[in-house]
Amino acid sequence: VGTVEVDLSQVAVGQSVTVTWRGRPVFVRHRTPEEIAQAVQDDAVSLRDQQTDAVRVQRPDWLIVVGICTHLGCIPLGQKPGEPRGEFGGWFCPCHGSQYDTSGRARKGPAPTNLVVPPYAFLTDTQVRIG
Ligand code: FES
Repeated sequence: VGTVEVDLSQVAVGQSVTVTWRGRPVFVRHRTPEEIAQAVQDDAVSLRDQQTDAVRVQRPDWLIVVGICTHLGCIPLGQKPGEPRGEFGGWFCPCHGSQYDTSGRARKGPAPTNLVVPPYAFLTDTQVRIG
């Protein structure tokens, strides 16, 4: 199947879900106001893969990224409660220690580029289609 639909009504603020799209994990995070503010604030930081938060999200509440570390392809931690999210509050890759921020941008460790934003479209306020 080339697309997957996600029911966002089941994902509370601060929660994440992982869905499978074309055999790959996709992280869907319902960001908190603090996470959004941090992501926007860090637009001003010098990044290895410079992107503003605004080009990575269609709606600030929802960050949607392919959950594959851009270093060597491990699945970063940070989707489940209690998992480490790293210094920047996003995701932490256990393989070689890459760290991603609340926009999914590579901030530390060997990951050369940001987590990839897949194609997606909001069908309604609570329904998104990935792919
Ligand atoms: Fe994630 Fe190497 S695969 S840090």
